Amino acid sequence: MPNATNRQWKLAARPTGLITPDVLQLTESPVPTINDGQALARVKFLSIDPTMRVWMADIPQYMPPVQLGEVMRAFGLAEILESRHPDYKKGDKVMGLTGLQEFALITGKESRAFQKLPSIPFLSDTNFLGTLGINGLTAYFGLLEIGKPQAGETLVVSAAAGATGSIAGQIGKIHGCRVVGIAGSDEKCKWITDDLGFDAAINYKLPDWKEKLVAATPNGVDINFENVGGPIMQAVLDRMNLHGRVVLCGLISGYTRQDPALASFGQVLIKRLRVEGFIILDYTSKFMDAGQQLGMWKMMGKLKDKQTILKGLDKAPEAINMLFDGSNIGKLLIEL
Ligand SMILES: NC(=O)c1ccc[n+]([C@@H]2O[C@H](COP(=O)([O-])OP(=O)(O)OC[C@H]3O[C@@H](n4cnc5c(N)ncnc54)[C@H](OP(=O)(O)O)[C@@H]3O)[C@@H](O)[C@H]2O)c1
Repeated sequence: MPNATNRQWKLAARPTGLITPDVLQLTESPVPTINDGQALARVKFLSIDPTMRVWMADIPQYMPPVQLGEVMRAFGLAEILESRHPDYKKGDKVMGLTGLQEFALITGKESRAFQKLPSIPFLSDTNFLGTLGINGLTAYFGLLEIGKPQAGETLVVSAAAGATGSIAGQIGKIHGCRVVGIAGSDEKCKWITDDLGFDAAINYKLPDWKEKLVAATPNGVDINFENVGGPIMQAVLDRMNLHGRVVLCGLISGYTRQDPALASFGQVLIKRLRVEGFIILDYTSKFMDAGQQLGMWKMMGKLKDKQTILKGLDKAPEAINMLFDGSNIGKLLIEL
């Protein structure tokens, strides 16, 4: 690709709250030329994930923080343009840590982190960044391995109209649970009840949401699929039954500000709750089987999803902030 330019978002400053204009810097550099053992891919879609905000912070975490000056880490879906790598040929579609940029160089070492996309009828490629990718797998393992749902139990899911929560709730329904979702708008609540089959949904932005949570969980809560933290986690913990399970998937309300909810953790002791944190990477050896199951449910119409797609790499900082004000519904993606 002689003379072509690669636009890249680099981490320029560590954020203290939301992404402000100084945090990410849009730069241009020549598209790399490939050597033996390398491939060049054009990024088609970028997955915008709350963990990106965590990766920007210099705090202990499950992967090294992104360093200042580095291309911002992001998952993406890309197409191989040129290859001198034995595993890839021109036209292959791959998924992996492309970074927030237009072109990704796949070297021998990194290639283990890029998977070729299977071509499956009726499934769009972008499903592999959401329902059949990190979000679906997170919902699947978090709920089934930690939540261990039993028919008739009550499951509460927070960020329930998001990429992960919407799938966790539907897997709960498949397993016979009463599923209550908590989400930030009436539109989201309507989607998860009317289209996804949740038994009840609570808009936590309305003043009486705590009373509604109590009314929607008359038998208490057996499983909390926790995506948010803060006052939402507090309210759900207060409804937990004896020997309930808390699937600690994420605490998004604390990614951009301090979270006072940890005070409620006394409930964990008093009610002998099982609280287990997890990172989806713990389950990589089981991804294939889970992916097949998710794909099957999707093709049978048992898993439905939505995507919010922004156009253009320029939108990256705005897109990351959308995760924190809830202006995405379903999986948030950028199309390049
Ligand atoms: N453990 C793992 O391996 C793993 C893997 C993937 C994701 N996660 C976690 O799962 C959670 C969901 O991630 P996702 O990728 O599926 O994102 P998402 O749910 O599609 O988007 C984030 C949603 O969180 C809600 N939210 C943001 N700030 C909030 C606040 N202060 N209070 C209440 N709700 C808030 C917003 O919806 P509303 O309109 O409802 O507010 C927003 O749409 C995150 O905590 C993420 O870190 C964990």
